[in-house]
Amino acid sequence: MSTPHRTPIPDFLYGTAWKEDRTASLTELAVRAGFRAIDTANQRRHYFEAEVGEALAVACQTGLVRRDDLFLQTKFTYQRGQDDHLPYDPAATLSVQVAQSLANSLEHLGTACVDSYLLHGPSDNDDWTDDDAEVWEAMRTERDAGRTRLLGVSNVSLRHLDQMTASRIELPAFVQNRCYARHGWDREVREFCREHEIIYQGFSLLTANKNVLHHPLIAELAEGANATPAQIVFSFARGVGILPLTGTSNAEHMQQDLASRELTLPPEALRTIESIAG
Ligand SMILES: NC(=O)c1ccc[n+]([C@@H]2O[C@H](COP(=O)([O-])OP(=O)(O)OC[C@H]3O[C@@H](n4cnc5c(N)ncnc54)[C@H](OP(=O)(O)O)[C@@H]3O)[C@@H](O)[C@H]2O)c1
Repeated sequence: MSTPHRTPIPDFLYGTAWKEDRTASLTELAVRAGFRAIDTANQRRHYFEAEVGEALAVACQTGLVRRDDLFLQTKFTYQRGQDDHLPYDPAATLSVQVAQSLANSLEHLGTACVDSYLLHGPSDNDDWTDDDAEVWEAMRTERDAGRTRLLGVSNVSLRHLDQMTASRIELPAFVQNRCYARHGWDREVREFCREHEIIYQGFSLLTANKNVLHHPLIAELAEGANATPAQIVFSFARGVGILPLTGTSNAEHMQQDLASRELTLPPEALRTIESIAG
């Protein structure tokens, strides 16, 4: 695959976590189904990034897509989030680890530049630390060198984002967080993102919110729209400004998830779902 041009920001991300030996076949299936944005990580513990790259190479070689049609996102993961398959020298500085990890990701994905590079999670649950500042600076260096178009952070709290703001460093283009309905679908972080023109990516929209999927209001909306509860949740997400991820392994669900883009919920329904659980 060649160097990408400016791919537009996607409207759905296909997540490749936890697919192990099925990563290549499911990634290829997702691209065949119509997904054009792929989320992965150079973290062998939960992702098989090399297999994502194999699937994309096949998809490009067979003419299904071109690199320029794809939005590729991967992540830098600290050693504490990794298993023994480290994509960097753990004795190296964090800046060097970032450079090594991204170089390895580009090799896995067969590209000279990803579309988005995320810090998988800050080093501390409460605070944005000096380590995070070093990693973020190294990620900016990689971006400025043309190895990623955009940068983001994942698994962050409002406090982390406030601390980034207070230290006057560049804010991310993306935040990627688990989205719990009982926390107002991550209301505070989403508001921060809206104020700062950051695109909020939400994951575990279905798995973290099983009670919502079974809520009578969702059933009613689904029946009225001839849709499934999962489609209502994805449509809701998009309606309130969340860029959703799905990690489905099921071909029919891939189609349904993508078809949810055609579904528009009225503002009143969005407000009610937003307040269902928190
Ligand atoms: N940054 C991070 O730390 C982080 C953490 C977790 C995840 N992620 C990313 O987010 C991606 C998605 O993860 P996730 O937690 O949202 O999802 P997930 O764990 O991959 O699971 C999605 C679940 O929803 C079901 N599903 C999907 N579409 C459905 C539909 N239309 N109808 C019924 N069930 C449906 C799937 O079942 P079927 O397979 O049967 O469809 C599956 O059980 C991951 O692959 C990864 O890329 C990032």
